[in-house]
Amino acid sequence: MNSKKDLLSNCIEGFQFARALAAFELERSTPLDISIEPLGKDFFARVCGVSFKSPPSGGVKKTIVEAINKYSVLVFPDAAPTEEEHLAFGRAFGELQLTSSSVSGKRKRRIRAEFADVSNLDLNGRVLPADSRLAHNKQANQLWHSDASFRKTPSKFSFLAGIRLPPSGGETEFVDLRAVWDALPEKTKQECEGKIAVHSLLASRRRVGFHDFNEEERAAYSHAPHPLARVHPGSGRKCLFVGSHADFIDGNDEVTGRQFLDELLEFATQERFIYSHKWTPGEVIMWDNRCVIHRGRPWDMSVIREMRRVTVDGDGPTVVDGSIVPGI
Ligand code: OGA
Ligand code: MN
Repeated sequence: MNSKKDLLSNCIEGFQFARALAAFELERSTPLDISIEPLGKDFFARVCGVSFKSPPSGGVKKTIVEAINKYSVLVFPDAAPTEEEHLAFGRAFGELQLTSSSVSGKRKRRIRAEFADVSNLDLNGRVLPADSRLAHNKQANQLWHSDASFRKTPSKFSFLAGIRLPPSGGETEFVDLRAVWDALPEKTKQECEGKIAVHSLLASRRRVGFHDFNEEERAAYSHAPHPLARVHPGSGRKCLFVGSHADFIDGNDEVTGRQFLDELLEFATQERFIYSHKWTPGEVIMWDNRCVIHRGRPWDMSVIREMRRVTVDGDGPTVVDGSIVPGI
């Protein structure tokens, strides 16, 4: 027969075992019901088994962070989050950025301020005329960019949910800037090292024909310095941090700097680096803006394309007083 003492020690052992099991569940690298299937070599993966019904728990979040650090872009099929679920999922990874309604002025929004309205719909949910100012402005999404690199603290993760999608066109394309860096000629790498590119919303909007910014907008979005050779904190790998918001290079004359940036972006967006995604409604795509550029592709603008995005803010400015901040 067990003595009281034995019973107590069995109880304690049982409790310790349960705790150890719970810790194991939390810590083990991939919870059993999640599968990660790379669709490119080491870039872009499909993640099945993650529910958006509640924010990711410790083990699930850890798995997602490890996967994004490795693959840079993750697609979650059948996620179909409600607005609340979408916000809560994004918030699990950090503070959300409020979108600026900058170029279009202080306009009313179709959806709440934490969402980027990636749609061709007006306030009443009707298709925007393709030649309207707002539709035209949104076309800047079709230029290669990293979200909000025109801010001193640029974005970390984006979560874009596909809601209503056109039958053809409207794909989203991605480039992993780490692979681009690895492929750069040694001489070009040396030319990029230590250089600071100044990003600006004005630069990308200029490319789609917008010039009229007010003083407030100019001040807010015109001078965001970022290293051209940026170390991606999630993997420790270097990436070529370019995109259509990059305007000029600190210390270079404007034309030379811009030419160099154009050449680099052309190199980065060669076919061999691009992964093109054809959307299925209900999918959410997460990407890491610290090492990925992306763009939307054209579609028949008389057809609805409705998506919304939440964006997690970066950890701080990448450059302070002219010096590159490590680990951002
Ligand atoms: C975005 C974006 C591209 C697209 O949501 O940040 O750039 O395909 N989207 O609409
Ligand atoms: Mn974008």
